[in-house]
Amino acid sequence: MVPEIAVSKLSKDQAKAELARLAKVLASANQRYHTDDAPEISDAQYDRLKQRNADIEAAFPDLKRADSPSDQVGAAVSETFSKITHAVRMLSLGNAFDDEDVVDFDTRVRKFLGTAMGTKLLYTAEPKIDGLSLSLRFEKGHLIHAVTRGDGEVGENVTNNARTIADIPQTITGAPDVMEIRGEVYMSHADFDALNDAQVKKGAKEFANPRNAAAGSLRQLDAKITAARPLRFFAYAWGELSEPLAGTQTAAIARIAAMGFSTNPLTKTCDGPKALIAQYARIEEQRATLGYDIDGVVYKVDDLSLQARLGFRSTTPRWAIAHKFPAEIAHTRIEAIEIQVGRTGALSPVARLLPVTVGGVVVSNATLHNEDYIKGVDSKGNAIREGRDIRVGDWVEVYRAGDVIPKIRDVDLSKRPDDSVPYDFPTICPECGSPAIREEGDSVARCTGGIICPAQAVEKLKHFVARGAFDIEGLGAKQIEMFFEDAELPVKEPADIFTLENRDAQNFTKLKNRDGWGARSATNLFAAINEKRKIPLNKLIFALGMRHVGDSTGTLLANNYGSWAAFEAAMDAAFDHKGEAWEQLNAIDGVGRVMATALVDTFHKGEARDAIDRLVAELDVQDMAKRDTSGSPVAGKVVVFTGTLELMSRAEAKVRAEDLGAKVSGSVSKKTDYVVAGPGAGSKAKKAKELGVTLLSEAQWLDLIGKNG
Ligand code: IVH
Repeated sequence: MVPEIAVSKLSKDQAKAELARLAKVLASANQRYHTDDAPEISDAQYDRLKQRNADIEAAFPDLKRADSPSDQVGAAVSETFSKITHAVRMLSLGNAFDDEDVVDFDTRVRKFLGTAMGTKLLYTAEPKIDGLSLSLRFEKGHLIHAVTRGDGEVGENVTNNARTIADIPQTITGAPDVMEIRGEVYMSHADFDALNDAQVKKGAKEFANPRNAAAGSLRQLDAKITAARPLRFFAYAWGELSEPLAGTQTAAIARIAAMGFSTNPLTKTCDGPKALIAQYARIEEQRATLGYDIDGVVYKVDDLSLQARLGFRSTTPRWAIAHKFPAEIAHTRIEAIEIQVGRTGALSPVARLLPVTVGGVVVSNATLHNEDYIKGVDSKGNAIREGRDIRVGDWVEVYRAGDVIPKIRDVDLSKRPDDSVPYDFPTICPECGSPAIREEGDSVARCTGGIICPAQAVEKLKHFVARGAFDIEGLGAKQIEMFFEDAELPVKEPADIFTLENRDAQNFTKLKNRDGWGARSATNLFAAINEKRKIPLNKLIFALGMRHVGDSTGTLLANNYGSWAAFEAAMDAAFDHKGEAWEQLNAIDGVGRVMATALVDTFHKGEARDAIDRLVAELDVQDMAKRDTSGSPVAGKVVVFTGTLELMSRAEAKVRAEDLGAKVSGSVSKKTDYVVAGPGAGSKAKKAKELGVTLLSEAQWLDLIGKNG
């Protein structure tokens, strides 16, 4: 490399040439940074070159170029995709794994709708495409934007890339003014093989499977790269519509196909679980010859007015389900059993495997669940695998279902080494040495170290920044591990993330001077963190990582309490597991006693609560959007349903009342506004009379809610 001449020693000609060189190098670095996973220079080098460019410009102001890198402060190309909020949330599907689950699905749907078993009820069955979902918004027939699913609420704007996909029409005639078409982007097996061959020739990394290849291709910042990748698209659903597409799923899909979208030819209308299962078998038979990956069959209620009545249960529709194909299996040997400590302290045994390919993916770890699973017994003490235990050195059957961590199904005793010994499950936490205790009724042993256990703390932080929670750009598991160990800028609890920038400003060794960091990446990180100070309540509750509180429970609780203040006050008031706040928490559909206990107790553990308070002080927690119940005659009213309802099921009545802003309660008290009593109503109707609460028949109730219902 030619040694660099100090700026003060540059002649005017040299300075001019140097500015030209730097403009070129920095532009190329920009390009590589934005389009490739492997930038050619480090952030630190980039910053240094940019500084040199600025120094030369300061010494020779008249030589500053029109395309000076100084004027392109991250503006030339955007660093990431912009974010777009979905007009209608993109949800996931519940799963069915066997025929019985399919029958149960039909029973649930009928029960909700109050449709008798003998009455005809149509469904559609179609392949579940193993790709990534995309929402396409058309306004007046023109493609306006294409957005990935993201966390279901906010996705990435990949419009330029979607425009390069041949299956996606850009103008449509005969469509509603506003129309969002949703479907799956995927890559065929043939195109995937050809792409990987080309990658090998280029010396580039091969893709693990067609889905990863499709995802990697769609999420390219340079649309030219996407254009060169053979992506395809099947349309199967929709989001916002200014007018309905049709009266049934079948007709809507036919209309979408007529507009020029590809729809799956194996979609069939079926008249019940038996026909659905038959279509499942037909699709499964053709699976190997379809030429693209599918991982199950999706069933949907055909009548769209019934779909609307059924609605959603936090993150999944009641009117659809995915019947998954059985997982793929491979055989390999267990080389070691290691214990991982999770965010709630659970000791999870993991089998380290001799690497083996399962369904196109190399697998080298599998979960062993817990102590009992290794021993060969279930939570009730009954034998599993006919009681065969799992040992280091054993040959085992490994399977993988979807994206989840692989599991072990069985052990081949004929291959067990003579000197093998049963696995001895630890009784102390391998990370912090605290006793690991298995409480009565719990299937896992838990580290009792709490916040002093570094593994629990790190895992909690990783969960906190994960997708669906705070999802902070540039702050993933790897960076959390680094900051957790950092002596000068430690991040030991969530609140520390939000004080990072201030602490960095006061620090001697700045983040931008660390290995792997530069001014640009440090600034970006602080910006990404600040952006997330404003956080919706449901994400905050989920991010706290409390036991039993997942993504959908987070949303359930958030919708119920509406604001952080109300949620916190309720958890405080319920501290003794008694009283109104405690009863209300338990009355939420989807919250059980175990979860309620975990929630309330978290708020009453000194250190855990202090950490929550420190965090919330850094945030601007967004209340949940109140449903627009203006004009609803029952907004804020407390309603009790009792007896047999004849026009709709109890479940549907409850959901509809709640949609109109009413609170549905299970018991009658002075606070009850209406008791809706069907035939056979007993003690609750009597109590209503005693308390002078308005008693309504089902028909009177429907009159009251009028067209709103
Ligand atoms: S319907 C409200 N149909 O599966 C739910 N989804 O596990 C609308 N998927 O996020 C989805 N093939 O990405 C539907 N034929 C199909 C599908 C399908 C694949 C994906 C989709 C969804 C995921 C849910």
